[in-house]
Amino acid sequence: MPDTVTIANGHHAVFTRCRLGGIELRNRIIKTATYEGMCPDGVPSAALIEHHRALAAGGVGMTTVAYCAVSPNGRTFAEQMYMRDAIVPKLRELTRAVHDAGAAASIQLGHCGFFSRNTALPGRRSLGPSFTINQYGLMSGVPVARAMNEADIVEVIGDFGAAAGRAADAGFDAVELHLGHGYLLSQFISPATNHRRDRWGGSLDNRMRLPLAVVERVRQRVGARFPILAKTNLRDGFRGGLELDESVGVAQRLEAAGIDAIVLSGGFTSKTPFYLFRGGRPLKEMIEVEKSWPQKIALRLFGASAIKEYPFKELFFLDDARAVRRAVQVPLVLLGGALSLDNLDSAMHEGFEFVAMGRALIADPDLINRLQRGEATRSRCISCNKCVAEMDRNGVRCVLG
Ligand SMILES: Cc1cc2nc3c(=O)[nH]c(=O)nc-3n(C[C@H](O)[C@H](O)[C@H](O)COP(=O)(O)O)c2cc1C
Repeated sequence: MPDTVTIANGHHAVFTRCRLGGIELRNRIIKTATYEGMCPDGVPSAALIEHHRALAAGGVGMTTVAYCAVSPNGRTFAEQMYMRDAIVPKLRELTRAVHDAGAAASIQLGHCGFFSRNTALPGRRSLGPSFTINQYGLMSGVPVARAMNEADIVEVIGDFGAAAGRAADAGFDAVELHLGHGYLLSQFISPATNHRRDRWGGSLDNRMRLPLAVVERVRQRVGARFPILAKTNLRDGFRGGLELDESVGVAQRLEAAGIDAIVLSGGFTSKTPFYLFRGGRPLKEMIEVEKSWPQKIALRLFGASAIKEYPFKELFFLDDARAVRRAVQVPLVLLGGALSLDNLDSAMHEGFEFVAMGRALIADPDLINRLQRGEATRSRCISCNKCVAEMDRNGVRCVLG
């Protein structure tokens, strides 16, 4: 933890260099993963490279490429990027552009679990810890998920390891494992979606067995000095889901497994999608960009009642994140509603080593430079969340222009 929030010559601790595993970042601000929608046919485009170059040039310490699946069957959508040899040269271009602009590059690796609309899935069934109706895929022809067997589990662990190895080959400085937001590893951790009676379900130790096996395999592939972050849920955000008492236990187990930093988030995409970010619920825009007609109609009819809205608050995960801070020594990344220099200072003051920002940097990719130069004190983001719909239109962008 930095000793002081502001240091002698008017600079702020958040702008000081900091170690993350075996690397050093130029400051403590991480651009968090926000799905870009810039990978036509699953291939990183020039727009994706430019998006991350601009964030790096705008001053962040590290930028994170969002939601790369570890395998074709781990994709939520058929057009999502999944890690494979064919895209490594493009990713190398991306990491080179980010490095040339002075920042580090991380990539988020995930598996969607049952939360999929990918009709290319074998038997049109997604995979999860337990059998479930897949409401998200129902209208798109992926109505159910089957419970994973031992062979599926072994395969997924291997896929995470191989994907991390390729990410390192592509020049990434870090990987972020997605253990949150209701995707596969989060589905295993959550008592609401893991009903297994074998060693992969039941107690928290058992529900953490797969995420920890993934961390172990990734570590074997990337080596001791390569930073591995985990994005986790503080709470799933619905009754019966993961709550803070257990999420503290999740962080403690990750710390013991040698994770380099934990990004503290929350929410479950299939049940509480707006718990993740709070603020506006752009239903009209979400209906506009929805490509499947049955889904469009369902959104029109049931969207307002099915998708709960949560009021925005600056640093909205801080209260819960404090409980984790008290319980572990491992570096923590505070996330959620950081918009201003005051928010960044508060994160340092509260003992977090890093702050992650999503929407503030979609709105103002050069925010960090401007904060640092004293040209701005806060982002222009108004948490309307219309950027969430934009990612399915022509790629994520701020609608404020
Ligand atoms: C457009 C958009 C896309 C997102 N995509 C992802 C994603 O791919 N992976 C992820 O872990 N979180 C995703 N999130 C959630 C953000 O990473 C972050 O947790 C959330 O926006 C809160 O941070 P903020 O208040 O700084 O925006 C997304 C958020 C937005 C606004």
